[in-house]
Formats: sequence, structure tokens, C-alpha cells
Amino acid sequence: MQFIMEKPRKALRIVRTIRRKSEGGVYKMLPSPRLLMWKGRKRAKHIFLGILALVVIYVLFLTFDGRLTFQPYMSTTTFYVAYPGNYTIIMDNTPVCRTRNPFLVLMVPVAPRGVKFRHTIRRTWGSERTVLGQRVDTIFLLGLPSGEETEQQQELLFWENEQYQDMIQSGFLDSYRNLTIKTMFMLEWLVKNCKNTSYVMKIDSDMLLHVPNLVKLLLDPITPKHNYMSGLVWWHSQVLRNPFNKFYMPRHVIAEPEYPPYPLGMAYVMSMDLPEKILSISTEIKPIYIEDAYLGMCLQHLGIFPTDPPDTDLYIVKPVHPLSNCSLTKVIAVTTTGIDLMNIYWARIQDSETTCNLTYYYYYY
Ligand SMILES: *[C@@H]1O[C@H](CO)[C@@H](O)[C@H](O)[C@H]1NC(C)=O
Ligand SMILES: *[C@@H]1O[C@H](CO)[C@@H](O)[C@H](O)[C@H]1NC(C)=O
Ligand SMILES: *[C@@H]1O[C@H](CO)[C@@H](O)[C@H](O)[C@H]1NC(C)=O
Ligand SMILES: *[C@@H]1O[C@H](CO)[C@@H](O)[C@H](O)[C@H]1NC(C)=O
Ligand SMILES: *[C@@H]1O[C@H](CO)[C@@H](O)[C@H](O)[C@H]1NC(C)=O
Repeated sequence: MQFIMEKPRKALRIVRTIRRKSEGGVYKMLPSPRLLMWKGRKRAKHIFLGILALVVIYVLFLTFDGRLTFQPYMSTTTFYVAYPGNYTIIMDNTPVCRTRNPFLVLMVPVAPRGVKFRHTIRRTWGSERTVLGQRVDTIFLLGLPSGEETEQQQELLFWENEQYQDMIQSGFLDSYRNLTIKTMFMLEWLVKNCKNTSYVMKIDSDMLLHVPNLVKLLLDPITPKHNYMSGLVWWHSQVLRNPFNKFYMPRHVIAEPEYPPYPLGMAYVMSMDLPEKILSISTEIKPIYIEDAYLGMCLQHLGIFPTDPPDTDLYIVKPVHPLSNCSLTKVIAVTTTGIDLMNIYWARIQDSETTCNLTYYYYYY
């Protein structure tokens, strides 16, 4: 406050000094009003340009996702994937659904290079075989490796699968843009092999899955046995029209402003009658590269709505880490930041000391 009061006084003193000096014969030029105005305008222009630059940087920051995907002249085919295609099967010798009859199959799409994730999942939530008396099996889904040393990578995959027999691989190139192909391949495989299975969950390799909580929900009489697809349901997912965005979709591919409702691709569960229904309707809908939204489009054509989980905290997509013991023991699937956190959370939910203090929980929420 004092500082602000002092400033005009000081300025006044300087003006008086200048005036006195010029009156006393020493010539001192005062800045003309026009010069002052010009300076003011110049400053305003600088401020304006500065703000503009900040806005541009902010917009770029919002739309930037590791690489610039600005491709305004992308042809229509860019937004579709090559499915169906006669992809060859490279690896498929798992006993799951063949000599074993699981109640629930966990399908994990993973990049060929994601061996660390596969090992971690095999050691943690993928290691659970019998949960609440129900058989649970885990399978990894892969396409072909790309980049450098593809042959060497493929050799390692063969070797890894020889040890664990839990990988299936098909002959399309494994890339983010081909995720829909992977999902459709998964559905085909399930229809062919898992007739006696009740549910399937598709779950990403960076997730922590609380298998007992999932099985508990699936065994609950409130859970439908048919036409059931659940997860973190996006009821009003906007079709993004910003060409900078990773999920850009032009109007001439999808005219509607919103996608039909669908559970987020990170983790969704469905009853085993759905894969066949989705596959049969999929011949009528051109597959787009956004796999979860595409499944939503298939569901809509089937006249089936996804089911919200009974509690919104069961699936968490953007958690604030570290999660409290209470939210960890209540969750079904939660995004992690990587292998380390997955291990820590897994150890914590195994520990009988980790309990959810319900009185505490309901008191505060
Ligand atoms: C796939 O292969 C079968 C026979 O192997 C053939 O009849 C069919 O036309 C092929 N489909 C495509 C899309 O290439
Ligand atoms: C898979 O994706 C890559 C690039 O992302 C593409 O070149 C390839 O043609 C796609 N399709 C198949 C069937 O591999
Ligand atoms: C299906 O699974 C049940 C147990 O879950 C088993 O009793 C039955 O024999 C199985 N049927 C076939 C055809 O595998
Ligand atoms: C969370 O659980 C762990 C056991 O894994 C326990 O040691 C710790 O004290 C618990 N933290 C809180 C805040 O209750
Ligand atoms: C639950 O938390 C409340 C408040 O912190 C505490 O008073 C109570 O003893 C706790 N109950 C159990 C079973 O830990």
C-alpha cells in the first residue's frame, strides 16, 4: 500500500525538477504527448502479441500428444481399419478354453515389445487362477512386431510363448491405429474357442485389476448374463473435430456430434453371447480406428445399451496417485503410471492389513 502511495509522489517530484531546470535556462525536452501515445500503443501491441503467443502455445499444448498429428488432408480411408482381412494366425497354442473351462477370460492387448508388462501381469493380477471358486484365465493379444529387428523380436515372442502358452498373435501389424483389428480378432477367437465361458474382460496392460471384486460383481444376481457390457461408460462422447487431436474424426466419416454410448477401452467386461452378435452386425458398419467407440456403434445397431457399474468408483481412468487403501480395496480396474505402481498396488490389495474403513469412508464422502 505504502509503495503504491509513494509512486505518484515520486513521479510528481521528477516532473517538478524537470520543469524547474527548463525554467532555469537548462534546456530539457519533455516527451511530446504524441510520442507518449505511440509508446503506449507499441506497448499494447506487445502485450497483445504476448497474450496471442500464450494462447497459441496453450492450444498446442492441449492438442499435442507426443507427436503432431495435424493431417487436414487425410483421405477417408485413414479413419477406417482394414477389417475384415484374411490375417494369418501366427501363435495360438494356449490351452485356455480348450482343455480348461474358465468362467472369466481376461484379454490383454499388448505391444510385442511389452514383455515387461506381460511379466508383471503374469506375476500379479494375471496369476490368479481360482477366484471365489471360479476359474479365471489371462491371454495376451498381439499383432506383428514392427520397427527394427522384427525377426529377432518375433523369435523372442515364440520363445516367451513356449514358456507360458498364454499369447495369441495374428498377422496384422501391431500399431495403435490397428487396435480395432486387434479387438475384432479377439472377438473372433472367443467365438471360436470359448463357448463355455460366461464373461470376458478386455483390459489394457497398464491397468491394475482387482480380480476378486470383478468376479464378485459378475456372480452377483443383479448382473445380467446376456447382452451385458459394462465398464466406465461414456454416455455422451463427443466426436472430436480438431485436426490436431489424436482422436480427430471428420464429419464426412461420422456426421453425428456424439458417439453412441460405450465403455472406455481401458477395461470393459461383456457376457459371452455378445462377441458373436457384435461380429455379425459389424459387417454392416465400416470399422473406424477408435476401437471402443466402434464397439459402441455395433451395440447401438444391436439395440443394446452398455450397463453402468453399480458404483462409479469401480473403474477409475484418471486417478490421483497414490490411491488410498480404501479406494484400492473397492476398485475393479484403475489406470497406473507403469509397472512399479502396479506392483505396489498389487501388494497392497493382497495384504490383509489393507482394509476399507467403511465408517470413515461414508463419513467423509
Ligand atoms: C479370405 O480367404 C478366403 C479363402 O481362404 C476367401 O474365400 C475370401 O474371399 C478371403 N477374404 C478376403 C477379404 O480376402
Ligand atoms: C496397421 O498399421 C500400420 C500403421 O499404423 C499400417 O501401415 C498397416 O497397414 C495397418 N494394417 C495392417 C492390416 O497391418
Ligand atoms: C462347461 O463348463 C461347466 C462348468 O463350468 C462344465 O460342467 C461343462 O462340462 C462344460 N461344458 C463343456 C461342453 O465343456
Ligand atoms: C494401508 O495398508 C497398508 C498395508 O498394506 C498399511 O500398512 C497402511 O498402514 C495402510 N494405510 C492407511 C492409511 O491405512
Ligand atoms: C474407522 O475410522 C474412524 C475414524 O478415523 C475410527 O474412529 C474407527 O476406529 C475406525 N474403525 C476401524 C474398524 O478401523
